[in-house]
Amino acid sequence: MGLLVDRVCVVTGAGQGLGRAIALEMAREGAIVALLERNPATLEAVAAEIGGEGGTAAAYALDVTDYDAYGRVVADLHARFGRIDALVNNAAINPPTRTILNDTLEDWRRTTAINLEAVYMGSKLVAPLMVARRSGRIIHIASIQGFASSGEIGPYNAAKGGMIALTKSMAVELGPYDILVNSVAPGFMLTPMSIVNGVDETKTPDFIEWYVRRGKIPLRRTGYPEDVSGTVIFLASDYCRYMTGQLLVVDGGLMSTF
Ligand SMILES: NC(=O)c1ccc[n+]([C@@H]2O[C@H](COP(=O)([O-])OP(=O)(O)OC[C@H]3O[C@@H](n4cnc5c(N)ncnc54)[C@H](O)[C@@H]3O)[C@@H](O)[C@H]2O)c1
Repeated sequence: MGLLVDRVCVVTGAGQGLGRAIALEMAREGAIVALLERNPATLEAVAAEIGGEGGTAAAYALDVTDYDAYGRVVADLHARFGRIDALVNNAAINPPTRTILNDTLEDWRRTTAINLEAVYMGSKLVAPLMVARRSGRIIHIASIQGFASSGEIGPYNAAKGGMIALTKSMAVELGPYDILVNSVAPGFMLTPMSIVNGVDETKTPDFIEWYVRRGKIPLRRTGYPEDVSGTVIFLASDYCRYMTGQLLVVDGGLMSTF
């Protein structure tokens, strides 16, 4: 459709799952997509996939918590393309640690470093380029667990809640520069992250019974990465012009039930 023709769009964690789907879809819409991913094998695979479809990708093997290296990537993108039009903060981990009674401080620090601090730092590195051009989009991939909880994964939830709050403060601060900051909260998505301790949580009998058969998810299925990528395209495109500081929930209706 060409909604992002020649826009330079950065996607973190682009090697698999939602990040891969977002990157592929952005490229199909005409964007030059910068893939930031710490796994070189999946990074190269997605870059090849985009190239194979006739799209343009710039691949960077990067751990987003390495801020010196992240700064060099941003500088390189600026040198090559002269701008960054959109940043999608997608990279995250969801370690199978669990409760506040069992987690360690190290678990907390590792999770919040990637899922929140690196979002703050990545945005901090990219925003000045957008400010200079008075134009840009920053999109955080949060989670419904940022405002609702199954009673587990406290550090993950806290990081996602922090992202939602950060969305608002960044939107207010960057609004005068025409930089729109929004976030997306996916529900249960079928990605490698949904496989916890070797079990795909979206395929267990309990999940099928409660979320699908009994309709706790009104759309009666788990979500696919492609269900989220369209929402991100919208937020990065000119169809989204007067919306900032918002959270779009993409969960098949899960949060509308009780
Ligand atoms: N899968 C779900 O059910 C679900 C639900 C809600 C929100 N989300 C969010 O969606 C986003 C994508 O999740 P996913 O399911 O695709 O996850 P995933 O685990 O399948 O993919 C995450 C990608 O990020 C990369 N990554 C992780 N840490 C990194 C780092 N430090 N530096 C660079 N790359 C790094 C991984 O290598 C991987 O390629 C995450 O922010 C996640 O929290 C996922």
